[in-house]
Amino acid sequence: MAAVAGGQIDSVMQEKRLFPPPKEFAAKARIKSLEEYQELWDQAAADPPKFWADLARDELHWFQPFERPLVWKEPFAEWFAGGKTNVSYNCLDRNLAAGLGDRTAILWEGEPGDSRKLTYAELHREVCKFANVLKSLGITSGDRVSIYMPMVPELAIAMLACARIGAIHSIIFAGFSAEAIAERNRDAEAKLQIAADTGWRRGKALPLKETVDEALAKSPTVQKCIVLRRGAVAGLSEADGAGSGPGSQTPATVVSMQAGRDFWWHELMEKASAECPAASMDSEAPLFILYTSGSTGKPKGIKHTTAGYNLYAKKTFQWVFDHRDDDIFWCTADIGWVTGHSYVVYGPLSAGATVLMYEGAPNHPDESRFWQLIEKYKVTIFYTAPTAIRAFIKWGDQHVKKHDLSSLRLLGTVGEGINPEAWMWYHRVIGGERCPIVDTWWQTETGGIMMSPLPGAIPTKPGSCTKPLPGIIPEIVTPSGQPVGKNQGGWLVMTHPWPGMLRGIWGDDDRYKEVYWSKVPGKYLAGDNARCDDDGYYWIMGRIDDVLNVSGHRLSTIEIESALVSHPSVAEAAAVGRPDELKGEAVAVFVTLRSGEPNDALREQLKKHVRHEIGALAQPDDIRFTGALPKTRSGKIMRRLLRDIAAGKETVGDTTTLEDYSVLAKIRGDEE
Ligand code: PRX
Repeated sequence: MAAVAGGQIDSVMQEKRLFPPPKEFAAKARIKSLEEYQELWDQAAADPPKFWADLARDELHWFQPFERPLVWKEPFAEWFAGGKTNVSYNCLDRNLAAGLGDRTAILWEGEPGDSRKLTYAELHREVCKFANVLKSLGITSGDRVSIYMPMVPELAIAMLACARIGAIHSIIFAGFSAEAIAERNRDAEAKLQIAADTGWRRGKALPLKETVDEALAKSPTVQKCIVLRRGAVAGLSEADGAGSGPGSQTPATVVSMQAGRDFWWHELMEKASAECPAASMDSEAPLFILYTSGSTGKPKGIKHTTAGYNLYAKKTFQWVFDHRDDDIFWCTADIGWVTGHSYVVYGPLSAGATVLMYEGAPNHPDESRFWQLIEKYKVTIFYTAPTAIRAFIKWGDQHVKKHDLSSLRLLGTVGEGINPEAWMWYHRVIGGERCPIVDTWWQTETGGIMMSPLPGAIPTKPGSCTKPLPGIIPEIVTPSGQPVGKNQGGWLVMTHPWPGMLRGIWGDDDRYKEVYWSKVPGKYLAGDNARCDDDGYYWIMGRIDDVLNVSGHRLSTIEIESALVSHPSVAEAAAVGRPDELKGEAVAVFVTLRSGEPNDALREQLKKHVRHEIGALAQPDDIRFTGALPKTRSGKIMRRLLRDIAAGKETVGDTTTLEDYSVLAKIRGDEE
């Protein structure tokens, strides 16, 4: 292990396994070899704006061609300046013009087992009608529309209708509290709320409208609210199998509607015309705001705009998922997160893909639901999060084995680093050792995938997101901005603007400059640590704020956690630093078990295991067993909170993104 100099981070992880793309996969892939990838990457890096401009001309419909590929007034970018296009047009009308009207755009299944299918022509019609509904309520270009809905096709319809008329959507994941909605509505000065009466989660109908009512009482700018009747619209009639699906409950559809403010979706749609030409939007017209939590302080409204985002979502979808016409693509993320924006809706639909959308929980009515869905819909590409994979492992292979997953040809992950042993399980048990895995690194801010294997071209290494996509130029630097050497951990930055990048934080240019552009001047600071190995592969090492400093060595969270997860008894692990007089910080880990008893013998075994896997320095000083780890609603481990617990402090900072508040109390109360 090397000593630290200049704020670099030591890497203690050695992962040697290499998985070349299967031959048959590569033969049919869009990008077929490492050489082909490298050629494309080099060509893009030689002149990124030209590279993107050439793609933009081909991949988007232009009402008016753009004049300049990029106007860069650091840190503000204008991509495809002077051009006019429309994202809803690119996702719908362009596909209809190409003769894809009868192709299925959305396959949908509700948690209770009800299902629907929308072709591109049907989706187009619904979007046009809903766009007219929006207009009839006085929504015009530039207005902000707040959306709080479960995973139903109407959520995608609402987004595309906003895009069609130039309204800016702000989607709030339908698990957030009334306070969180109100805070976001006030920040965005939203004019309209779109909601649903209920949504299904683990067999329960969540009272979404009730939460929205509470939020609207504190959202002074919101004048009207459209309410989707999830039960009725989703076809939970007896004919469609209500009462006979996996969950046979009927949603509680009795909601209070405030006269003059609240309108039923289906009533407004009845009268709406299906004629609604897409508005001609400036390339840089805002498309959406999506709030992400800062670790403290108020959430940041990440702003994305029209043409650059659209191009980036589309191209990255095609490259990374190697999309073919006959694919059934399933991204399990909720549309309330950026992954759902880019890879349930905008990326796949602009590429004319067929997507599966599922409303509910992976373990309802039992833990085989996802595998049952893959078998039923013959899913070919499956994209999910490491937190879900760790849960699948914990639930056991028997749930998977009951189902035929032979339709799958490609797997993906996003949201956190994937521990190599979880990667191996995914490869073996879900992928049948035949599907490449794309570990995709990106952020709400980046709009789309930045680093990932191209599945027909780049051999994979478990735990590495491998290489940057064409047009993306990363660098790893010290806090003073100096590039670090190979295999040295440091701050991950991007040296060039790219079309999918955020255009700012809604209403707060200063915060945008300060968070992303001030610490390493002239470069985009991602906020993650990473290292690049001898083969030019990138390994994400966790958030900058989560680094541990043990006896002057800066260690990454993921490496210690991956060592723990490679022990057969461990399901999940989180590593944090705890103040220690001697070492600066001691290594404290929180562990959930897959099997075995939480006792001292196992604790000693785990310490030895980490020592053996990655070295004495990283050996945990404290190991706490717990039933669950605190996570954000999108499934990321909240190490910040664990740091407080390890240090014996009261939890400070924002906890509104915590998924299950009881977890913290349980961990504090857990037997040592
Ligand atoms: O720390 C990285 C982690 O998730 C962060 C971005 O989170 P968010 O904006 O919620 O977007 C998640 C979906 C794109 C990153 O800064 N992260 C995401 N993907 C990976 C990852 N860490 C390691 N490997 C990944 N594949």
